[in-house]
Amino acid sequence: MKKVYLIGFMGSGKSAIGKRLSNLLNLPFYDMDTEIAKKTGMTIPQIFETYGEEKFREMETDFLLHFPDEYCIIATGGGVAMRAHNREIMRATGLVFFLNSTYRDIWRRVSTDKNRPIVQRSTREQLEALYHKRKPLYLECAQFKVETTGRSLNEITQYIA
Ligand code: S3P
Repeated sequence: MKKVYLIGFMGSGKSAIGKRLSNLLNLPFYDMDTEIAKKTGMTIPQIFETYGEEKFREMETDFLLHFPDEYCIIATGGGVAMRAHNREIMRATGLVFFLNSTYRDIWRRVSTDKNRPIVQRSTREQLEALYHKRKPLYLECAQFKVETTGRSLNEITQYIA
């Protein structure tokens, strides 16, 4: 079990907590979106626009499949746990933590974000429906559920560590 995967909806704090966890545990940190952007030389909105969402989902699986066998912390993209294959890879290669936030918190954090294509194309209600659709899959995938509401980033990090 070499990796710690942080999963959860957009805006649940995966990257912010991942960075803190990486400092605390002295392990390298990788943000999947950042790695995919680096590899393609494109931003996530550009990838969605040029190749479409399905191709982006393949890039996510590709990242998980070919990531070096090392101890590290990985902040996944919010859609990664949607594919059964991705869930299997994560559980087989690491410990999976689901960061659970209320939809109210999520919306407050992501609604004005221009870098998240899924948010850009959704109404508040559509995004909420996606949030409810994905939640059982996060729960199915994760070995640990972490409540984030009402806790500071440092408290959540300490709890996971
Ligand atoms: C997505 C979440 C994003 C990014 C892409 C799609 C999703 O990552 O991978 O915009 O489908 O939920 P974050 O969860 O880091 O925002």
